[in-house]
Parts: sequence; structure tokens; C-alpha cells
Amino acid sequence: EMGGHAHYMLKEIREQPDTVLNACRGRLVREEGSSRLGGLNMTARQLRRVRRVVFAACGTSWHAALVGEYLIERLAHLPVEVEYASEFRYRNAPLDDRTLVFVLSQSGETADTLGALREAKRRGQPTLAIVNTVGSTIAREADGGVYLHAGLEVGVASTKAFSAQVAVLTLLALHLGRLRGLSFSEGTAVLKALEAVPSLIGEALKAEPAIEAAAERVAQARSVLYLGRDIHFPVALEGALKLKEISYIHAEGYPTAEMKHGPIALIDVHTPSVFVAPRGPLHAKTLSNIEEVRARRGPVVSVGLADDDELTRLSDHVLPIPDAPDVVQPLLAVVPLQLLAYHVARIKGCDIDKPRNLAKSVTVE
Ligand code: M6R
Repeated sequence: EMGGHAHYMLKEIREQPDTVLNACRGRLVREEGSSRLGGLNMTARQLRRVRRVVFAACGTSWHAALVGEYLIERLAHLPVEVEYASEFRYRNAPLDDRTLVFVLSQSGETADTLGALREAKRRGQPTLAIVNTVGSTIAREADGGVYLHAGLEVGVASTKAFSAQVAVLTLLALHLGRLRGLSFSEGTAVLKALEAVPSLIGEALKAEPAIEAAAERVAQARSVLYLGRDIHFPVALEGALKLKEISYIHAEGYPTAEMKHGPIALIDVHTPSVFVAPRGPLHAKTLSNIEEVRARRGPVVSVGLADDDELTRLSDHVLPIPDAPDVVQPLLAVVPLQLLAYHVARIKGCDIDKPRNLAKSVTVE
């Protein structure tokens, strides 16, 4: 069943080129420089009326939603709020008829996410779901939505579902953008970037030997910081969650520039920092943050471009990813972080597919 892979998690990480392909299949509309998401059951006119988007989710799905916030802000210039489902369901969040509420869930059975959906419905809000499991409770109760088509995910640590969610959110942001200020050529650039992702993930997967070397060092740590900014901040959060779930090493994700407002106090020779640092407009700032960590003798692991000499000089380990337009970079940058967590857990002898205290779907509050 695991097709020669040592664990389901590894199989699912390696499936991600296909995952993205399947999430996008039949949904790219090249002649319009846009996407088609028929399951939303909403007309262009209805979607154009939307003034605000709310996402509610838990765990990894919440991280994917955070990437969605950056994407929708960038491509459609709409305000987005990302809520923990467990908070949303008991808050009195302002909603109106121009707010679009989405819940995101791999399993479609997460109790808090279902609670959030029901609360939004109770308040008369049309609700949409981004779900993997066909026919799940959330899929059935939502008014419309988008399936991920990621196939069964067995590993408790979610990997391919995250990639499928981010791919679908890119399609959603593109669609909302094309109903607003995003031009045909800008939309086409996003489509092309997305179409290139499966083979680029394939390249990122080839870096496993470098990742294993970094894993040897991270496996010695008691605590690890994950830092990323802009669209990579949620990727840092996701990398940290993967590490803590399966290797039981404490890890925290932070926006890179927040480091100096507290977490920098933790840095010492035993506390590695993992920087998500592909090139981008803020790269020089990230490099100077890395220098600050080095000045305190903190080990540095970076996810970045193989030909980035400055990053290579400043890092103990570079986990290479190929270059790509920044809207699709999270789909590449998350891959080495999933593999890093996997190899750390393997080195430590942990039960990777069934980590302690966790279940695949959390059906209690
Ligand atoms: O099935 P869901 O996407 O609703 O699950 C949400 C979280 O329980 C889930 O992502 C959890 O955080 C995973 N174990 C993360 O790897």
C-alpha cells in the first residue's frame, strides 16, 4: 500500500506533484486567464458583490488559509480574516451579506470546523467548504465548495492536503482577482506559474540528501525557531507544526522580523533557526536577520535558492528549492520543511504515521 515508501507520510510528501496537478485539473481557464470553480454555486455577479472573505479552520488547514489570505489580498485586493474555527464558533464575529465564509478541512469531520460552519449557517450566512473527503459531514452541510481531489491522506501529519488547499486557494484568489482589478496578462502569469509547480515540486523533492544532513543537526535540538515573512510566514508556522507533531521537538513559527521582539532571547548554540528565505523583495532584510542569529552562534538552516551565494555563506545548511514567481513559492518551500520534520522523526525513532496523543481527525471539541 505504501508503494515502497517507509511511511505513509513520506509517500504523501512525494505524491505532491500529482496532488497539485489533480487539484488544478479542469479548473484552469487559459482563454480567460482565470479559473473555474463550479462547486461554489455562485454567479460572477454574486462573487463580485463580495467585500470580505472569512476563513475558519484548524491546524494545517488554518495555515493553508493564512496563505490564502496573502494570495487573495495580493490578487483580488479583498480583506480576508483567518479564524481558528474553535474561536470563530463562539465569537460574535461581524458578518454581513457581502462576507463570504469558507471553512477548510482535509477530513471534513473536524468538530470545531463543523461547529464554525453551523454557526455561520445559523446566522443566515451562505457557507462554502474547501474539503478533501468527498461526502464528509462538512461537505454535505456546506452550500457549496471545492474538493481538493488529493486522495486519501493516511499520515496524521497533514502534507499533501496542505498543498492541495494552497493550490485551490490560488485558483480562488485568481478567480476573485479576475472579477476585479487583475488583468488578463497578470492572470495568465499566475496560471502559468501554477502549471509549472508539479515539476518544480519534483525538483524540490530531489534535495532529500541535503535535508537529511540538516535533520541530523535539528534532531539534537530541544527547541527550534521557524521564521518566514510575507507569504512565507504561514509556511514557517506549518514547518514548526510538522516538527512538533512527529518529532516531539518544541518548535515555534514567527514572522522573521518579529524575532527581535522576543524569540531572539532563545537563540544559542543549541537552538537552530529555520529560515524560509527564497528570493523576493524582502530578501536583504531576511539575510540581515540571519546575521543576527549567527552573531548569537545559533545554527541556521535555510530554505532558499541553490544559487543564492549570500544565503549559502550565512547558513549551516541550505535546503534548496527552485526559483518561481512568489505567489507559488509556498507550494515549493513547504516541501523541504515536511521532509526535514520527517527525517528528524525518523532519526529519533518516532512513530511517524501515528504520533502520540494525536488522531487523524479531531471529532471532539
Ligand atoms: O481534517 P482537518 O483539515 O479539518 O484537520 C485539521 C487539523 O486537525 C489538522 O490539520 C492537524 O493539525 C494535523 N495533524 C496537522 O498535521
